Amino acid sequence: MLATAGSAIGLGNIWKLPYMIGVNGGSAFVIVFIACIFFVGIPLMMTEILLGRRAQKNPLDGVAALAAEAGVCSWWKVIGGMGMITGLLILGFYSVIGGWVLNFITQSASGNFVGITAAQSTGNFEQLLASPLTLLFWHSIFMCLTMGVVAHGVNSGLEKANNILIPALFAILLILLGYSMSVGNMVAAYDFMFSLDFSKITPVAVLSALGHAFFSLSLGMGSVMVYGSYLQRNVSIARTTIYIALADTLLGLLVGLAIYSLVFANQLAPNAGPGLIFQTLPIAFGHMPGGSLIATLFFMLVAFAAWTSAISLVEPAIAWVVENTRVSRKQTCVALGLAVWLLGVAVLLSFNDWQHIKIVFGLNIFESLDKLTSTILLPMGGLLMAIFAGYFMRKEHVQEELHLSDSAFKLWRYTNNYIAPVGIAAVFLYLFGLVQ
Ligand code: TRP
Repeated sequence: MLATAGSAIGLGNIWKLPYMIGVNGGSAFVIVFIACIFFVGIPLMMTEILLGRRAQKNPLDGVAALAAEAGVCSWWKVIGGMGMITGLLILGFYSVIGGWVLNFITQSASGNFVGITAAQSTGNFEQLLASPLTLLFWHSIFMCLTMGVVAHGVNSGLEKANNILIPALFAILLILLGYSMSVGNMVAAYDFMFSLDFSKITPVAVLSALGHAFFSLSLGMGSVMVYGSYLQRNVSIARTTIYIALADTLLGLLVGLAIYSLVFANQLAPNAGPGLIFQTLPIAFGHMPGGSLIATLFFMLVAFAAWTSAISLVEPAIAWVVENTRVSRKQTCVALGLAVWLLGVAVLLSFNDWQHIKIVFGLNIFESLDKLTSTILLPMGGLLMAIFAGYFMRKEHVQEELHLSDSAFKLWRYTNNYIAPVGIAAVFLYLFGLVQ
């Protein structure tokens, strides 16, 4: 359970959710995001955990084994294959952002943010983006940290640390929130994020919110399946899922409130994009008493959260190679690590020298990778898992894993078999221009 929480809580909550809220029009996005967590994220997280716990293998071989058990075509294992690739693609940009966080630890510790103004903070971040070598350095460190842990198989030790570090992250966030409340504009932030106005909901907001529900809960690529396979038989999948989903969502929304309170108090742009937290947080830390120390701690905890998430992104691919070939774990880590590192180099260049290179729909390398994974590959993986568990596995087998009361089981089946697949399919139809 801790491992799954460690995978779910990461940059998705602290870095991505806040800026996505701003880019997609505030409350319209938040409402749809919360609905996606409840109607798609929670049921599908249960599904993914149950698949993992039943299969007890890496996602690809695991789904193949479950397909054999159900007596259906083994091609369902594409879920696992697609997931491994998706994880590596996500890590390609995740590691670059993880690098920004590492850089901010050193900046906080050296007192760079003391007394910083809004304009200086924005400039400071732009300067970081404009230096490929600095980005390269930190991206490389983040990759080494991630692959180092995976190569030595010491994940479990790191995951135990979650026990203390996730609550610590919440605690420091409360300090930040309290500070933002006293100096920022919390009323405007609250209004921006929670004022109910359904007319502002746009198709793009729905698409992004659904994609982010997958990203934030680590769903759709096998991370959760791998951790599901470690979950003991007697642990309730439903309860585990609900705790994790609530903690994960709450954390993200609290960061959002803290950030927007500062954004509105400092007349910053809510739709600043991926740099949002890196431009606003220094302003808060730079003015609170003991700010440098608190900022250092904060970015260290964020880096830790990102680290445990990053590990879960490569674990399916590594497990598959190690269990199917004679290549050793260390060699696999070096090879896959290098491939992802190279991808990351392209990503970090897309923030400066390669900014003008557009891949699809006018999106640069970073944006293309992000959109491709969050809005297509993860929901696609989730859709296939839902259909497989809901329509192809034997009902008794599913219930054996979920072990729910009759009514709760019906509820899961209803959301897993109808609401989630129909919702995801509707978004895809829109995306491919088939419906307007
Ligand atoms: N959920 C993590 C975060 O919020 C990122 C992550 C880890 C992830 N494993 C994943 C996202 C699998 C999608 C799929 O930072």
